[in-house]
Amino acid sequence: MSTTYATLSARLGEAFDSLLPGADPALRSSDRADFQANGVMALAKSLGRPPREVAQDVINAVHLDGVAELAVAGPGFLNVTVHEEFLNHQLRAALADERLGAVPTAAAKRVVIDYSSPNVAKEMHVGHLRGTIIGDALARLYRFAGHEVIARNHVGDWGTPFGMLIEHLVDLGQDGADATLSIADLDGFYRDARHAFDGDEAMRERSRARVVALQSGDPETRRLWGILFERSVNYISDVYAKLNVTLRREDVVGESYYNDSLAGVVRDLDALGLLVDSDGARCVFPPGFTNRLGEPLPLIVQKRDEGFGYAATDLAALRDRVEVLRANELIYVVGAPQAQHFEMIFAVARRAGWLSDSVHCEHVAFGHVLGTDHKMLKSRQGESVKLAALLAEAVERAYVALDERATVATNERYDLARAIALGAIKYADLSTERQHDYVFDLDRMVSFEGNTGPYLQYAHARVASIFRRAPEGYSSEVHFTLSTPPERALALALLAWPEAVAGALESHQPHRLCTYLFDLAQRFATFYDVCPVLKAPPSLRDERLALCDLSARALAQGLSLLGIDAPTQM
Ligand code: ARG
Repeated sequence: MSTTYATLSARLGEAFDSLLPGADPALRSSDRADFQANGVMALAKSLGRPPREVAQDVINAVHLDGVAELAVAGPGFLNVTVHEEFLNHQLRAALADERLGAVPTAAAKRVVIDYSSPNVAKEMHVGHLRGTIIGDALARLYRFAGHEVIARNHVGDWGTPFGMLIEHLVDLGQDGADATLSIADLDGFYRDARHAFDGDEAMRERSRARVVALQSGDPETRRLWGILFERSVNYISDVYAKLNVTLRREDVVGESYYNDSLAGVVRDLDALGLLVDSDGARCVFPPGFTNRLGEPLPLIVQKRDEGFGYAATDLAALRDRVEVLRANELIYVVGAPQAQHFEMIFAVARRAGWLSDSVHCEHVAFGHVLGTDHKMLKSRQGESVKLAALLAEAVERAYVALDERATVATNERYDLARAIALGAIKYADLSTERQHDYVFDLDRMVSFEGNTGPYLQYAHARVASIFRRAPEGYSSEVHFTLSTPPERALALALLAWPEAVAGALESHQPHRLCTYLFDLAQRFATFYDVCPVLKAPPSLRDERLALCDLSARALAQGLSLLGIDAPTQM
């Protein structure tokens, strides 16, 4: 089944094409008609003819019988009014389709999505929230579209800090199989280790030796490292479960995984003649990258002390994803400050021939989370806010809000509060254009009014409540007449669902789906205010119940693609 928009766009496209090959009808939704085609202006300009005349030519050429009517408007726009019978047909098809008309892709790709990627042996803080939530929404959107997703949680589990952390573990006597190292206070552990390291030359000496032992594969050191790693992974898995994020344990493929491939990266870059010695460090200077003084910028592959850094690991990871995992697409959901790092990684990988043009690579960047003072969000103690604390506070607020409404039985309030809190946090994050910073304001996020997660969840719960009062549902022979403007407006939004989902995926902008869902919920609210449903005469009641059903399904599926639950009662 082709969507309403796709059908109109294709037929108009043919007509435009017949007047000038490749001309774009620029079909948009409209508040004057159902849609409008704005492409006539550009076409008329190219043809050097009066727009209204060209618009008439389009009308004469187009094949829209049984689909829609065109009318010239203003200086040369085309208003599109879809035929009632066509809308009826499209709505009935959507009703019969679990995916509401969104067709899975015919060209499934294998996509590696690198996201969340916290550093182990540290608690996850608010800085990890966006990468985790946006990455997970994208993973869900890709899967829904029919692509194969391989998630890669590129955790920071290697490198110099581990020498210090392992020595601290030993000092605490937590180096045995029965170690009880508290994962609840990873930050405390890290802080104490850092403190000991800074204050004690002998500790620093031991730590340095430990890093060497770690990187050269000393078994006892690897075992100790494993204790830290295990505890950390248990801890982050716990956070993901609380966040309802789809990352699994086997998706944790951190920096350590690539340790054995790093030497090969250097060797191969060297053989290609791409390595330059710069102050003892081995670097690649990809063309086109310069610093503020216009000097070429190095990507440091091996440091002066022979150690490999972040960049070498990312090059090894990229090769693994292309050569071993055979991915067609590589997505990196990482904060905007790393934009240059990824540009350079991609550029070097292309020069080295590890990345062909057939593999799409993209850094999906996002901005910061700010406090209500518009500065980087910090706790009262001036530290970064821990994710667990943030979640707990949101649940608390949602609980209080539910308590005030008192619409839900007390014993169900806690679970519901959790769903609302998560919905609130995720939606606030996803509904902002990701490149922008956003203000973390719990009061606003958990509000049931405005463009918020709870508002959408509530809209969904409201529809669900209608069906509780009409358990018999509606006839499968339902016919859509769309006799009032709010019904027609709602129907058009429902039919636009496939484009909304596809648009969010193609642009890697989940906020587009949020905007769509908010608009849909508002249209539903208007419809529900104006059009009686349960009290309508039988055939109208069927039609309106079917519109309710489609609305509930679009909201629930949309929210689920954002990783947000849609409770049936609120
Ligand atoms: N662990 C890194 C950090 O905290 C993020 C890793 C992102 N992914 C990557 N492939 N570099 O900044």
